[in-house]
Amino acid sequence: MQSFSYFMPTKVICGRDCVRGQGALLKELGAHALIVTGKSSAKNGALADVLAALEANGQTATVFDRVTPNPTIACVREGIALLMAAGADFIVAVGGGSPMDAAKAIAMLAVQERADEEIFSGGYADRALPMAHVPTTAGTGSEVTPYAILTNDAAQTKTSISSPAMFPRLAFLDGKYMEKLPTMSAVNTALDAFSHAAESLLSRSATPMSGMLAKESLRILYPLLPQTAGTPALEERDALLYASMLAGMAIAQSGTTAVHGMGYSLTYFYGIDHGRANGLLLGGALRLSEKKNVPALQDILAACADTLGGICRTLDALLGEREHIPRERLEEFARRAMSNKNIKKSAYEPTQAEVLAMYLNAFCESVS
Ligand SMILES: [Fe+2]
Repeated sequence: MQSFSYFMPTKVICGRDCVRGQGALLKELGAHALIVTGKSSAKNGALADVLAALEANGQTATVFDRVTPNPTIACVREGIALLMAAGADFIVAVGGGSPMDAAKAIAMLAVQERADEEIFSGGYADRALPMAHVPTTAGTGSEVTPYAILTNDAAQTKTSISSPAMFPRLAFLDGKYMEKLPTMSAVNTALDAFSHAAESLLSRSATPMSGMLAKESLRILYPLLPQTAGTPALEERDALLYASMLAGMAIAQSGTTAVHGMGYSLTYFYGIDHGRANGLLLGGALRLSEKKNVPALQDILAACADTLGGICRTLDALLGEREHIPRERLEEFARRAMSNKNIKKSAYEPTQAEVLAMYLNAFCESVS
């Protein structure tokens, strides 16, 4: 038997109107909530549902809605200051990956003092404020992972911090919050979820449990990818949200691979959306896996019920016109990527030349 462990302590509640219907579950988290969110949760109904649920429980709340995409340490510090001033003793995260990841960092750093320069050095104690997460995009899966990805200006990249303490206590999933999601966000977040599931299978740290979750995620998600560019039905939104959660559960066990590690430079230096960055790079990773006969590639193809060429065409259709990035920058990114721990976790084991080829492939340049 393969040696592995499985830990996923988040209670997941799925279903229409589950925040209001099962909001009593929030009672056990504390007396005063800091709601960490961006600007869109006020428009999609999620914030109103959370506030109503808290009020019904006799709990009070302070709203921190200043989380921006790719949250910074300064954003996390601002959230902690507000939390302290308000006397909040638990956190409700409402939104996509950025609010959820900022919330996790706030929850942990509020009870573990760290200098800015030591935030990414690991070794956290197993302690954080309790959290409930309400995802309003189907991409990050952050509601069921122990990771928070923050902008790391000192290293000019995005860096993941990880601790079992950052698993949310509760996650409420309801596709209705995605009904007004802009098409570009729907596409990019779906690409992120698809990349999570595929990368999880291609990770050296994959386990039987992560493999099962990732394959089921791909089976549901892949046929729905083209729909994200149109107007998905509510049931399809629900399915996308469920599949993204499964992919989150998978990477909570296995982590991601070179695709995520390489994508951070595209986001940091060119502002390319995180999910799109992964979508741009994933085709190259799949082709490299084919070249190197990585067995997990067959699992991905079987779960998607498509060929490698078919998957690449599906990705191409969603990605549309690609950005132009000068070759010298891509060479620099390839050098940077080699120090990322995700490179070594990839079953396709890319060399620096292969990392560069993946970057060039992402931007439609041939390797000379
Ligand atoms: Fe991601």
